[in-house]
Amino acid sequence: MTLAEQRRSYIPKIPTFLQQLHNVRCEPLSDNPQISSEIKAQFSHLQSTNYRLVSGLEKRNSPLKVGVVFSGGPASGGHNVLTGLFDALRQMHKESKLIGFIGGFSGLLEQRYITLSEVQIESVRNQGGFDLIGTGRTKLETKSDLDKVHTALEYLDALVVIGGDDSNTNAAVLANYLLSVGSKTSIIGVPKTIDGDLRSKEIEVSFGFDSACKTYAELIGNICKDALSTRKYYHFIKLMGRSASHIALECALLTQPNLTLIGEEKKSLEQCVHAIVDLIIRRQKAGKEFGVIVVPEGLIEFIPEIDKLLKALASNKLGPDEKVTWDHLPEKIKTQLMTQKDPHGNIKVSQISTEELLIELVKKELSKRNFSGNFDCQHHFFGYEGRCCLPTNFDANYAYSLGRLAAIGVRDGKSGVICAMRCLHKRPEEWIPMLTSLLPLLKLEERSGCKRVVIAKTLVDLRGPAFLQFAQIRASLAIDDQYQFPGPIQFFGNESSVDSGPLFLQIKF
Ligand code: FBP
Repeated sequence: MTLAEQRRSYIPKIPTFLQQLHNVRCEPLSDNPQISSEIKAQFSHLQSTNYRLVSGLEKRNSPLKVGVVFSGGPASGGHNVLTGLFDALRQMHKESKLIGFIGGFSGLLEQRYITLSEVQIESVRNQGGFDLIGTGRTKLETKSDLDKVHTALEYLDALVVIGGDDSNTNAAVLANYLLSVGSKTSIIGVPKTIDGDLRSKEIEVSFGFDSACKTYAELIGNICKDALSTRKYYHFIKLMGRSASHIALECALLTQPNLTLIGEEKKSLEQCVHAIVDLIIRRQKAGKEFGVIVVPEGLIEFIPEIDKLLKALASNKLGPDEKVTWDHLPEKIKTQLMTQKDPHGNIKVSQISTEELLIELVKKELSKRNFSGNFDCQHHFFGYEGRCCLPTNFDANYAYSLGRLAAIGVRDGKSGVICAMRCLHKRPEEWIPMLTSLLPLLKLEERSGCKRVVIAKTLVDLRGPAFLQFAQIRASLAIDDQYQFPGPIQFFGNESSVDSGPLFLQIKF
């Protein structure tokens, strides 16, 4: 039996509260008081209430018809949201139906969908990817988009939106709109993204983060071993994760490379380059002309002078300082900064070769300092490798549980909420499921010159336990090689090690 086949028969572990679906119902908790008046006015149909699950008989006598859509980049566990949702809907009523919209929100706009069959659902149990129904990055921008979606959802009880910050912003907009036109279809979000930046007090992490980090950690560990064995290269490893450095921080804790840059520290380009060059010189003095350096893909946006440059480029007004920064950049990076934009004008940081930029500037600085040693390097980018792997047990359990929770939210007619679990550092049986209002997550943010409603990305907290733990050990990692080699994701064996989720959730500082 192949591993994929073995995984298909894995039965996800779920919170006690999600085991007996007929015996639980949503109970409102107190309202969220901290919502700005502008947001309240724009989303006047949404409530700010969170819900917890309590015991109480809820028998559904009619079948449910539920739509589901993936939106944004893939994240391992996505298929388990579908299987969790499907199983729960069928347990509530055997004639319930799950309809998958194809290729993200464009599937809703163009009414492309399939009714998911048992055979299809069986084929994706505990499998990576989003391929059963695909995904996309289309956003709902206009009233006409909302009207089209309204029509597509007319005969459905609910739509479950599996996505990150932008997709759940869309979910909130859609929920508000549908309520405003008297529609009975509810909208429920599920937190997905490898980036780990969709968080709140209730959303401790999104699904997909754990699998991605463990995949990258395996690769980084292998590279550390290679560096240690051959002792001839500096490896510059860029990691995916968009703006926030959560992935880089988690991987740094898991593998302990010699240097990990964290974007949120907002170091200047010169400071980043000097930190690397100082490391190279110190290591050379210690007889080491090799090392491993990890760089988050979002670093580029946090470098204050690059941030200023990007803003100046956007408005076509390059001042003298920005010109100096521009002239300092290699041609390849200049071209990438000018061309790698998404449809909303944001830089596609995954397409900027920040690791190569650093290598080039490090070489220049080394020659300025008359460095006499060897500096041979390799650069890597780990991103797409981690988005569709077989989900870790944690992501398989978590995503399946989120799907079941979404089904309860649908049955109980909740809209404008997102599924969440508290106490994820504990065993799945002890997780606490909640439906939390999308309203308090919404903020007005300036993007490309205009104010937009967004769910703000949660960045690395420089006073948080994970960063503080990293800050405490990082000096000792520079010269003494304390690399860790986590190896491949483990699915079988000792429960406490194979089921545990992201390391940062376990850290109390
Ligand atoms: P979302 O989960 O926010 O959609 O993005 C995940 C991500 O993998 C980012 O880490 C990365 O910057 C981006 O998608 C790459 O996007 P694309 O798939 O369009 O190249």
